[in-house]
Amino acid sequence: MRHLSLAVIVTGLGLGLGAAFAQPQFYNTVDGSPLNFDDAMEEGRDTEAVKEFMATGVNIYNENPEVMAQAEETYNTMCSGCHGHYGEGKIGPGINDSYWTYPQNETDVGLFSTLYGGASGQMGPMWGSLTLDEMLLAMAWVRHLYTGDPQTATWLTPEQRENFAPFKPQGAEEDQS
Ligand code: HEC
Repeated sequence: MRHLSLAVIVTGLGLGLGAAFAQPQFYNTVDGSPLNFDDAMEEGRDTEAVKEFMATGVNIYNENPEVMAQAEETYNTMCSGCHGHYGEGKIGPGINDSYWTYPQNETDVGLFSTLYGGASGQMGPMWGSLTLDEMLLAMAWVRHLYTGDPQTATWLTPEQRENFAPFKPQGAEEDQS
């Protein structure tokens, strides 16, 4: 049972980190059924980021300069066609502001569940197309595209929240550099 061994690793890591974060539970965004990761691709299951996320619900790729280019590329390959280059929405809804059809997407555990298990219609499950690690990368870019008040960006650490500037489409970012 692959799932079992992942659970053992995750539990071990959770103990190591102490009780600061509860081990997250994952539920299908539409029907609320529990998700497990038996169907996940073999590759990318045991990266540091995946282990940390399964234990704490914290995505260490958020605002991590070392992976932002990869995060952007993953989003642009897998998501922007439906959600727009800036997450502003196309055939899929806007995902760059604080309004969510499914409020669980306000948390990274909820967002991960939406990617892994899908939602309705065109928003199919991603477990066959992205590794667990790539889902965390795509999520980091979705969060980077956030245009809302940084204080509502609960997925960031308090330090990151202080420094986070809401994303400005239309080349505003280039003007700064
Ligand atoms: C083929 C088109 C398509 C692709 C590709 C796609 N989505 Fe979606 N997505 C949709 C549609 C349509 C919905 C609305 C589904 C619903 O309301 O149940 C949606 C819903 C969502 C939601 C829920 C939004 C809310 O308001 O709660 C999130 C989050 C999301 N997508 C993220 C992503 C990410 C990240 C990717 C890339 C890994 C992606 N999607 C790829 C079409 C797509």
